[in-house]
Amino acid sequence: MDDSWKSDISTPALVLNYDAMLKNIKTMAKFVKDTGVNLRPHLKTAKMPIVAHMILKEGGANGIAVAKVGEAEIFAQSGIDDILIANQVIDAEHIKRLVMLNKYVLVRCAVDSRKNILDLSKQATKANVELEVLLEINLGLGRAGVEPGEPALELAKFIRDTPRVKLVGLQGYEGHLTPMMNVEQRETMTKECMNWLNETKNLLNENGFNIDYISTSGSATYMHAAMCDGVTEIQPGTYVFSDEHLYRVNPIFDIAVTVLSTIQNQTGKKEFTLDAGTKAIATGDGKPIIKDMPKIKFRVMNEEHTQIKSIGADLEIGQKIELIPAHICPTINLYDYIHVIKNNEYSGKWQIFARGKNY
Ligand SMILES: Cc1ncc(COP(=O)(O)O)c(C=O)c1O
Repeated sequence: MDDSWKSDISTPALVLNYDAMLKNIKTMAKFVKDTGVNLRPHLKTAKMPIVAHMILKEGGANGIAVAKVGEAEIFAQSGIDDILIANQVIDAEHIKRLVMLNKYVLVRCAVDSRKNILDLSKQATKANVELEVLLEINLGLGRAGVEPGEPALELAKFIRDTPRVKLVGLQGYEGHLTPMMNVEQRETMTKECMNWLNETKNLLNENGFNIDYISTSGSATYMHAAMCDGVTEIQPGTYVFSDEHLYRVNPIFDIAVTVLSTIQNQTGKKEFTLDAGTKAIATGDGKPIIKDMPKIKFRVMNEEHTQIKSIGADLEIGQKIELIPAHICPTINLYDYIHVIKNNEYSGKWQIFARGKNY
């Protein structure tokens, strides 16, 4: 395959295969069209307004999800007016910014504690704004959320009694099921999680609520979640670019983003060093793999370097090699720009506007 585009890019660099991304976006668009579930892509992965607008226009989405107020601000500034912060907004200054955004744009967030609900209410009352919230339910990930059933009902009643905070739906995220290799087991457990959400919704409605909005799920489990009673919306994010972890469990999405690196040293007959290390590719969730070159073995990864060994590949100094990140989300966050390859040709770079907006 012609990879002359590599010579246009100095390394280490983040590279987007535009056609692969578009294919992923279209695959998800077809799924949501066929099943009727709403799509709210989680933009903490792509972090680029241009990608958000592509998914809203051509990818079947009705709104977007983000993780932080700083991300919500970037996407709101780009004209998107239906945003869910699928996370808690706790810090007093963050709450003030959330309230300010809500004067002009719908930005919901998820809640799971009385203290947070009171803090949101205080600032919303001051600004004369009503904040819409989703009650987050713990589906077993154990990171956030109130327990399903009675504890959720109690907190829902607390929200009902709190001024300027309005409960509009439930959220749950079964991220602990993402790495599960056994598909049947992943499906069964996802359905169990969705059942907790739906039963909680029914319990709330038996107690005078009128909830018909459940937002949930990610790129490895959405296909099971979308089939379950009560689920109205899915929030996958990684599917847009995929990565080594997602590809292992859900290969219908192509790898669309890689880190391009250059061989900068030859340290032995078969040993070489790349110019990309842990500052160029996030390794907290595992090491990257080398794209399309099975005859290279990884040796050691340092800050600025990765040592590799050839087990039959012809390598030379100056050669450019693509690495597939284990986890794309924190890797994207390392770069200001992504280089776009369209139809195998270099077509310039896009700014990653929400890069570093984790506050
Ligand atoms: C609350 C929430 N929803 C959705 C997602 C998207 O999941 P995925 O990246 O597997 O698509 C995440 C990812 O961390 C998340 O935290």
